[in-house]
Amino acid sequence: MVILGIETSCDETAAALVRDGVEEISDVLATSREFHEKTGGIVPEIAARKQVEYILQVISQTLEKANMAKDDVDAIAVTVGPGLIGSLLIGVDAAKALAFAWHKPLYPVNHLVGHIYANFVGQEDQIEFPALVLVVSGGHTDLVLMHGHGNLEYLGGTLDDAAGEAFDKTARLLGISQYKLGGPKISEYAAKCTENTLLHRLPRPKINDDDFDFSFSGLKTAVRRLVETENPPVEVVACEFENAVVDVLIAKTIKAAQKFNVKSILLGGGVAANTQLRTRLQASADEIETKVYIPPLRLCGDNAIYIASAGFFNPLKRELVDIQADSSISIDTKL
Ligand code: KG4
Ligand code: ZN
Repeated sequence: MVILGIETSCDETAAALVRDGVEEISDVLATSREFHEKTGGIVPEIAARKQVEYILQVISQTLEKANMAKDDVDAIAVTVGPGLIGSLLIGVDAAKALAFAWHKPLYPVNHLVGHIYANFVGQEDQIEFPALVLVVSGGHTDLVLMHGHGNLEYLGGTLDDAAGEAFDKTARLLGISQYKLGGPKISEYAAKCTENTLLHRLPRPKINDDDFDFSFSGLKTAVRRLVETENPPVEVVACEFENAVVDVLIAKTIKAAQKFNVKSILLGGGVAANTQLRTRLQASADEIETKVYIPPLRLCGDNAIYIASAGFFNPLKRELVDIQADSSISIDTKL
């Protein structure tokens, strides 16, 4: 079964063709990043206008690249939320128009659930359930128990800033990045630090709490205080900040994996591209002898490949009129 995936939740306009949820056929991605770099942050109105400009070209190029036409497509899957409403509407309306004109089923996909399916694309293993999933993106930090496809149980999430947001805000505070690429910038600086002379000077919020919630806003404030009072080298602050975030993410993930006795651990979301998180999660999962799945780097950031995959494994049958963009849904929202 070939699914055309469409993703327009933020500043990327993406389409992809995926067979049976695992085999990539083609994908095309356009981004309005350069416009937001100029303004130092995403302007939703500009992101939405660029979505309008790119969407049809991106979809037709995806089909052309695969040498396929509408008759080769069995269904369409589209991100309905969460995200920027103006951006989401463009993808959802394009997908609805195509589904109507081509007489194809349209599957609504939750963007955060989509991130999880980056682990299923190209996967030769049969991922065993229950799986513990950590989704870490620019807007969300969620721990979810995945009992099977379409059967997710929310365990906890951030009470304030998401992990990616904390990276972005801290990078801005340190004056090393203005836009949502704060995560990679912090890592770049942290890698230059030869000795973490600030070890444990930043808090590890909620690390010993019994719940599965997170809180990262205090960490950012602690960084500000440290910079204002001691002005340490940026690379050392970046290193200690990255250590603090990863310490908390790993501690909570492993605690949940043990409590629920899961068979696998899955990572997803833009922050899954973080090298320290990837290597330390692998090592910690090895220690508790649990299989861990980490998506390849190119599938960590937003794309339509995992949206098509999520649509295949979660083929929700809905009337077109009932499929709506919704900017504020969470990972456990029933679509
Ligand atoms: O999932 P994503 O592409 O967009 C959302 O759905 O939010 O995630 C973007 C987030 C940004 O906050 C970015 O700073 C973060 O992922 N990120 C990273 C890294 N690469 C991207 N955070 C830490 N380390 C990285 N290497
Ligand atoms: Zn995302």
